Amino acid sequence: MTATPLLQVALDYITLPTALAMAYQVAPEVDIIEIGTPLCKAAGLEAIRSVREICPDKLILADLKTPDVGGLEAAMAFDAGADIMTVIGGAAPATVKQAYAVAQQRGKQMMMELTGVRDILARASEWRQIGIDRIVYHREWDAQDAGRQWEQADKDIIRQLIDMGFKVTVTGGLTMELLPFFADLPISVLICGRGIREAPDPQGAARQMRLAIAELWSGSSSSTPSSRSASPTTGDLAAKAIRWGVSGMGLDLVIDGRECPGCDFPNRFCQGTQTDIQCPNNLRSDDVVRSLAQLMNADGAFGRVSEYAFFLDPMQLGDLSRQRVIDLLNKTGIALQQLGCQVDISAGIRDANQVLGIS
Ligand code: 5RP
Repeated sequence: MTATPLLQVALDYITLPTALAMAYQVAPEVDIIEIGTPLCKAAGLEAIRSVREICPDKLILADLKTPDVGGLEAAMAFDAGADIMTVIGGAAPATVKQAYAVAQQRGKQMMMELTGVRDILARASEWRQIGIDRIVYHREWDAQDAGRQWEQADKDIIRQLIDMGFKVTVTGGLTMELLPFFADLPISVLICGRGIREAPDPQGAARQMRLAIAELWSGSSSSTPSSRSASPTTGDLAAKAIRWGVSGMGLDLVIDGRECPGCDFPNRFCQGTQTDIQCPNNLRSDDVVRSLAQLMNADGAFGRVSEYAFFLDPMQLGDLSRQRVIDLLNKTGIALQQLGCQVDISAGIRDANQVLGIS
């Protein structure tokens, strides 16, 4: 889990080519790309598919603000390539449950969008009972136009949501100048749309914003000294995602990690990027490796350790994009299922995704 909030750019456009040009430009400087609600309405699923195509290793959020038919809309967004979708706070609990269930099944995320919700804390506690743990706290555009300012009262509610167990995204006319106001809160994601898109140099603006976020939140109470002093390399992070992912699937690592001080500590147990995994159900490693080789061509990224253990090594994938790492995990789960094992692929992917970016 990262202590520094992720930066999400909102593509609130009504023409797809403009949106794609902006996505391409700012992608290197942001963590999440949002298909904004106007773009969802103007260009539909094609917008999600196209952004996925040009930004294959970015997290993509479809801001559908779904009001009804939650399961279907969630499935449509995920099938088109989104990692996260939103449901509007006014939706019926049945809609929330259906969207959440689909997200869970697919190892994806859904978020409640607070646009227009007045009794936030009461609704939030209902959503927590359903299992929802992600929420978007919003100063709406129209409210902003009508003069609504960010106030201490907003921060008090955000704090209470965090205390209830929510990972909170904050959005609504955010600018560089506003960031310090929020910096004492362990916010999960900050969304910026106009502040980036309308800057003379959008890529530079995104870069500056991300630097400012890192700087402002580096002293945050939720940021442990170890995570600041020993930030993992990309290979380390991919290896950590694989370790968490296979554990989340219900598999055992060869190294028993119960006494391990944690992945971000220099004296952690696992060194290097190879993760050795016990074959479940007394399967032979040769069978697991053969089954996996039929599903993916990735020389050196998996192989035999011993008769009853195999390894995964994301560093050998060559391409360490999030999708490729998740693919290795997914195919491992499928290979084991084909050999008759019960593994929870969705739980594994969810845990790996958490390591790779959705905190
Ligand atoms: C509007 C939205 C926007 O995407 C969100 O407010 C971010 O945009 P901006 O930073 O321009 O306010 O969801 O409903």
